[in-house]
Amino acid sequence: MNVGGTLIAGPASGALKGRVTVPGDKSMSHRAVMLASLADGITEIHGFLPGEDNLATAQMFVEMGVVIEWLNDEKTSLRVHGVGLHGLKQPQNMLDAGNSGTCVRLMTGVLAGQSFSSTMTGDASLCKRPMKRVVDPVRSMGAEVDGGDGGNLLPITIQGGALEAIQHVSEVASAQVKSCVLLAGLFAEGETTVVEPRPTRDHTERMLPLFGQPVQVDDRGVIRLKPTGKLTAPKEPVHIPADPSSATFFAVAASLIKGSDITLERIGMNPLRNGWSRILSDMGGNLELQREGVVGEERVADIHVTSQRLIGVRVNPADVPDAIDEFPVLFAAASLADGEFLLSEAEELRVKESDRIAVMARALISAGAVIEERPDGALIRGGVLKGGCTVNAEGDHRIAMAMAVAAQCANAEVSIENAAAIDTSFPDFVPLARRLGMNVRWQDD
Ligand code: S3P
Repeated sequence: MNVGGTLIAGPASGALKGRVTVPGDKSMSHRAVMLASLADGITEIHGFLPGEDNLATAQMFVEMGVVIEWLNDEKTSLRVHGVGLHGLKQPQNMLDAGNSGTCVRLMTGVLAGQSFSSTMTGDASLCKRPMKRVVDPVRSMGAEVDGGDGGNLLPITIQGGALEAIQHVSEVASAQVKSCVLLAGLFAEGETTVVEPRPTRDHTERMLPLFGQPVQVDDRGVIRLKPTGKLTAPKEPVHIPADPSSATFFAVAASLIKGSDITLERIGMNPLRNGWSRILSDMGGNLELQREGVVGEERVADIHVTSQRLIGVRVNPADVPDAIDEFPVLFAAASLADGEFLLSEAEELRVKESDRIAVMARALISAGAVIEERPDGALIRGGVLKGGCTVNAEGDHRIAMAMAVAAQCANAEVSIENAAAIDTSFPDFVPLARRLGMNVRWQDD
C-alpha cells in the first residue's frame, strides 16, 4: 500500500474557473504499451499517463527486453520498440505491478502465452485482491499458475506455453478479466470468445484492430478473437484521450461549488466509461459537450461544467460497470446533494484498491455525512458536511481525491491521511486542482 502523504483540503474560498487538460487515460495507457511491446515494429504513443500504475506496466516490458524511449521529460510520449508476440525474454527478477490491478490482471494473459516462467507481485493492497478471476481462465487455456490461496493471491508464478482457445463466460462484469482472456487468446490455438454478464469498457477490443488484430462483437455481445499470429505496429502514432475518471473529480467539484464554470478538455467519451456523466446529469449536473470528435477509435469531447444544486438519485444497476471507478467521488457529490442517493449491485467496489464502500463511508461519516452501508452499495442522505476532521484514504488514490473534492464544500478543513497513492493515477492532481481554484495542498508543502 502506498502509505503516507497527508492532503489538507477545503473549504473552497470561491468558485472554480478555467480550462484544464487532465492526464491520459489509465486503462488505455496500459493497453497501448502492452500491445506496442508485443507488436512487430516501433509504435509511438502520445498522451500516455505517467502514473505509477502505467510505469509499472512499462517497466515489466523493459525487464523482458523491450526498449522504451521516452520522448519528453514528463513521460507522456514514448516510442516502444516492439519485439513481436514471441520476442519477450524471461525476466531476471520478480515483476512488480505495484498498486495496479489492471497491470497484473492483463499481464496474466500476456505471460500465460510465454514459453518461460515468470512471477508477478504487487504492493500490500494488490496482494489482498482476488486473482482467481484471471488465473482460472488462463489455467483452462493450458498455463500453469501457482500462488497463495490456490493461485488467488499474489505473488503468482505463471508457466506459459502452448495455449488452447476457450469460450469464457465471465461471472463478474470486469474489463480486466475480459482483456486478460483476449490477450491470452492472441497466443492460443483457435478462436477465443468471451461473454460478460454486463458490457464493460471495450478499450482492448477497440485497440487490437489498430495493431492488425481484428476482434468481432456479435449482436448478443459475444466477443470473438481469432488470432492472426502477429501484431503490427500502427503507422500512425497512438493518441490517448484524457482520462474521464480523472476529469470526474473536477466535474463534481465544479458542480458543487457555487458560481463555478470550468472546461475539461479532450476527455474520453467512450459510452462504457461515461456512466459518471449520466449519473451526474441525472443528479442535476450541468454538463455540456463541446468540440466532439474521435481520437483513434475513441470518442472525445470538451466538457463544460457549471455549478448546479444536485439531487440524490437511485443509480440504475446497468450503469454500474460504466462508472465503477467514479463512485468514490459520486458518493462525495451525494453526501452534499438534496435527498437520497442509492447505489446497489456494486459489490465489486469492495475489491478495488480498497473496500471503497467501507472506506468512503467511514471518511464521509467522520466529515458529518449520513450513510447507510449496504453489502452491495450504500444509501446516502445528502446534507451538510461539517468537516474539521482527519480521515484515512487507506492508500487508495480515488478515495483521497474524492475526499479532497468533498472537503471543498465542508464547513471546515479536512486532513486526508495516506493520500500519496494519488501518484498511481493522477500525479498532477494537486497543481491542477489548485489552478482551477480548489483549496488543497500537501501538508509538507
Ligand atoms: C480497468 C477495469 C476496471 C477498473 C479499473 C481499470 C481496466 O476494473 O476498475 O480501474 O483498465 O480494464 P474491473 O475490470 O475489475 O472492473
